[in-house]
Formats: sequence, C-alpha cells, structure tokens
Amino acid sequence: MVRMAFRTVDPEDLDYYEKRLQTYSVPYDVIPEGYRRGRALRFQSPSGHTVELYYAMDYTGNLLPTVNPAPWPDGLTGIAPPRLDHTLVTAPDPATAIRFFQEVLEFRASEVLVQPDGTPIAAWLWQRPAPHDLAIVPGGAGGFHHAAFMIDTPEAIFRAADILARHHVRIDLGPGRHGITRGTTIYFFDPSGNRLETFGGYSAYQMDPDTQAITWTADRMTQGVSYYATELNESFLKVYT
Ligand SMILES: [Fe+2]
Repeated sequence: MVRMAFRTVDPEDLDYYEKRLQTYSVPYDVIPEGYRRGRALRFQSPSGHTVELYYAMDYTGNLLPTVNPAPWPDGLTGIAPPRLDHTLVTAPDPATAIRFFQEVLEFRASEVLVQPDGTPIAAWLWQRPAPHDLAIVPGGAGGFHHAAFMIDTPEAIFRAADILARHHVRIDLGPGRHGITRGTTIYFFDPSGNRLETFGGYSAYQMDPDTQAITWTADRMTQGVSYYATELNESFLKVYT
C-alpha cells in the first residue's frame, strides 16, 4: 500500500484536521494540488501507513445522469461493484494505532475485538454511516490485508463467487458471512497478489448518532471473521502485502 487517503466532508474540515494534527504533535507535510486532487495533508500513522486527508477532487460521477437516473448503467460486465467500501490494514501495536485514528482523526468504533483484559486487538472504525471505512488488525508495520468493494445484496455474493470461479480467481475465504458487521463476504486475490473483498448485506446495521461499539472477545475471533467457520485458513491469517 502506497498510502490511504480520506476525503473530508467540507473544505473547512481540512483546516480543522490540520489544527488537530498540530494539537497532537503529529508531523505532516502539505502536499500541493496534484493530479485531479486539491491540497492534501500527509502524515504517518502509528500503524506505519502514509495517510492523506484532502477535500477537492474532480467529480467524475457514476456513469448515470444526475437527472432521472436508471437504477444502474447499461453495459456493466463482471461483478461490477458500485463503489469501494473499506480497507483493512495491519499494525504492530494495534491498540496505539486504533487510539490514533479515534483521537486525532475522530473515527468511531463500530466493533472492537478485545483481549480478556479489555485491550483492543482489532477495531472496525467509521466516519461515514457504514460499519467501517477502516479496520486495523495485528501484523507488520504498513501492511495491507485487503480492500473491499460493495455489493448490494446477499444474493449478489453468489453471482460474484460464480464470476470469480469462472475466471479462475484464487478465493481465500467465502462466500460467507462475517460475525463482525454481519456483512456477507468473499476474499480473493487479484493478479498482483493483493487481497480484495466483496462486502455487503449488513442490513441489521443502523449507525445512529448514539451507536455504541460492539465488543467481540478473543475466543470468538473465528466466528467474528467467518461466522460459519470452525477454523480460519492459514493464508487469511498470515498473508498481507
Ligand atoms: Fe473487509
């Protein structure tokens, strides 16, 4: 992973988060306007990742008109996920990395996997009203476990699995359901060796303003990742890029 970038809701938010970086003594660079993107703030997270915040970006739309659009564009092929959903990264000291994203960047935890003493092992963090924009698990500094693309319905997961199998894609886990987020999932590897996911169907979720984080205990980690599994495969636990 070269970097992960998050877009702010308003232009003023960029100034607001610049002040927060200063308040928390986080060194950062101001990256001038670049290819189809405005000014960005770039810094290192304790997980070892390069993180950017930006607001301005060229608006490309989604292949549909903004007046009287159809439900989906003509001519889609393959799985055709409508959007990117989240990424999951690794950190040598997950508790410190999770605290950084919560305190400095004001992410909120939807779910947390904890040690018996309550120390976070992993967290699912959100800013948009969805289970997670970013998740952090234990592992090497700057590691990338997967990026996930949204699929709309639980039924679509089997169509996605059919398409992956038809194209001889190496599936890592699934199709199945997560205990954590209750979303449906397939993990698979792209030709470069990075893991991707299709994710969706978390219909029980309601991100109310007073939503409380859900706790998972370490002894239930397997069901948290893969609700129907009795054990997790080695590659899912060990392979990240
Ligand atoms: Fe995921």
